[in-house]
Amino acid sequence: MNIFTRAQRKLWRMLGLGEFLHLQNSVIELNNIGELCKVFGWRLSPVLDDTKIHEFSYVEDVNERRIRDAETLATVVRNTDPSVCLEIGTADGHSTALMSLNASAQARIYTINIPLEEILAGKGGELTTIALEREKIGAYYRQRNLTNITQILANTAYWKPDIGLIDVAFIDGCHDTKFVYNDTLKVLKNMKPGSFVLWHDFNLDLVRKYHWINSVCLGVEKLFTDGHIRGRVFHVRDSWIGVYRIEERI
Ligand SMILES: C[S@@+](CC[C@H](N)C(=O)[O-])C[C@H]1O[C@@H](n2cnc3c(N)ncnc32)[C@H](O)[C@@H]1O
Repeated sequence: MNIFTRAQRKLWRMLGLGEFLHLQNSVIELNNIGELCKVFGWRLSPVLDDTKIHEFSYVEDVNERRIRDAETLATVVRNTDPSVCLEIGTADGHSTALMSLNASAQARIYTINIPLEEILAGKGGELTTIALEREKIGAYYRQRNLTNITQILANTAYWKPDIGLIDVAFIDGCHDTKFVYNDTLKVLKNMKPGSFVLWHDFNLDLVRKYHWINSVCLGVEKLFTDGHIRGRVFHVRDSWIGVYRIEERI
């Protein structure tokens, strides 16, 4: 489904906004996490106990980006009381631990990461980001003895979700447009209205500055263009996360 006429598309392209036609109209920029809570009527504060969120290692971390990201992910999980969360892209397991701590002990946090052999065999995408050896994937959350996490080692290019209905999905695996698109489609088929999809490396203000953010945003844009999602994507200023609540069946 494409709600824009050819003339509108042409005009937007001339203005240099054509690539992100839907996102320009759909993304609501929020000044802070309190505004996200207002939108959804949430009252609970996130549990944030990971010192890494206060570190500054790269220019990409300016404006407390790590804190804004952690707040966003943790606030969604804490306030939705999910039974099942899925994270695509475990890396060393910091965001896995964050989801785990903000969900109940009865919840199940599934986290999936491509095995190193598949990356080396060229079976992942281009923007794989991190290639960790097997024992290092999820090492941080394992250190913390969290009990509600299940780790999956698989490449999402081939993985078929078999974890029941997903309440919160955090998509942070391969950042290629086609992976963002396909990973999201896979999870959407296993989600119901009212559930949340979050994309990492999502920030419309930075699409001209960081090519991987451009790539992720193009994936989300295509989901709108093809009619798989509709409505609003919320973005807390300075974070790199897009928050989407699934609407009634399209
Ligand atoms: C940016 S890191 C994830 C960071 C983590 N979510 C966090 O915030 O702590 C992306 C991870 O996705 C994994 N990945 C890349 N391509 C993948 C694929 N096709 N399937 C599953 N995982 C993938 C990478 O190996 C890497 O560990």
